[in-house]
Amino acid sequence: VESRLRAADGNYRWFLMLGEPLRNAQGSVVRWFGTCTDIEDLKQAEEALKIQEAQLRALTTRLQQVREEERAMVARDLHDQIGQILTAIKMDMTWLARRLPEKKGEAHDRIKKAIELISDGARSMRKICSGLRPGILDDLGLAAAIEWQAGEFASRTGVSCQVSLPQDDLRLDGDLATAIFRIFQESLTNVARHAEAQAVRASLYTQNGNLLLVVVDDGKGFREAEISGSLGLLGMKERAQACGGDLQISSSPGDGTTVTVRVPLHSHAPSVNDHAHSNSR
Ligand SMILES: Nc1ncnc2c1ncn2[C@@H]1O[C@H](COP(=O)(O)OP(=O)(O)OP(=O)(O)O)[C@@H](O)[C@H]1O
Ligand SMILES: [Mg+2]
Repeated sequence: VESRLRAADGNYRWFLMLGEPLRNAQGSVVRWFGTCTDIEDLKQAEEALKIQEAQLRALTTRLQQVREEERAMVARDLHDQIGQILTAIKMDMTWLARRLPEKKGEAHDRIKKAIELISDGARSMRKICSGLRPGILDDLGLAAAIEWQAGEFASRTGVSCQVSLPQDDLRLDGDLATAIFRIFQESLTNVARHAEAQAVRASLYTQNGNLLLVVVDDGKGFREAEISGSLGLLGMKERAQACGGDLQISSSPGDGTTVTVRVPLHSHAPSVNDHAHSNSR
């Protein structure tokens, strides 16, 4: 039994008490034997650990948010500012090419080459931008972004990637859409890096007020017990938990891997202040 008792110094502390009755021949208790251990320090350490855990979790969530905001900002600035400059240079070059007295010759070739280089630059800039944060996620939403990412994955890896998406508009909160999208990206990265799969099937659907994303591959699978210190899977779980949901991985060697994310729609993620007595922010 754990109980709070007054200690010798007059303060209340937590004690762990263990007792054994000594009975006589008739079975009635004659005496109690037992120990009483002061566990106040242990209790306090447990409490401190719980608070630290909640704070760490909040910090992770915040770091991810900041990272996401920064990526979006860099992508937007790159796209808007550098994009405009490149377009302007290209227009000027084209104008110049038209004004050249002769339509052939070295000057003309060089201008043509420069215009091609500018187009290449614009293309790789767009690629970098969508790598940082796909505009489609903000413009057209999660389902469209997942479809786009599946297509990118298939064309880059040669592994087929079928997606099934909900018919109607999901209208998700931005953080939730981002979390699910990043989890999807990380699942695909894992498939590309480890699974040696032929095909991936992903489905996004709602069920009983939850949003579910299931990603199944037919690759070589793995034993979860043999994974230690891996940050990718941990990050995926953290993201799901930050949205108030959870993430399950089921995999066995030779049998492929299934990642299932479930997050409640229309509910707020637990805040730190629910767990810890923190007054930050
Ligand atoms: N789809 C999969 N198929 C087969 N093995 C997988 C799959 N996903 C994960 N694994 C195994 O689980 C391990 C942990 O994955 P996790 O994403 O956490 O780490 P990682 O991909 O090795 O590194 P990173 O931290 O960069 O993501 C991988 O090293 C791999 O052995
Ligand atoms: Mg990984």
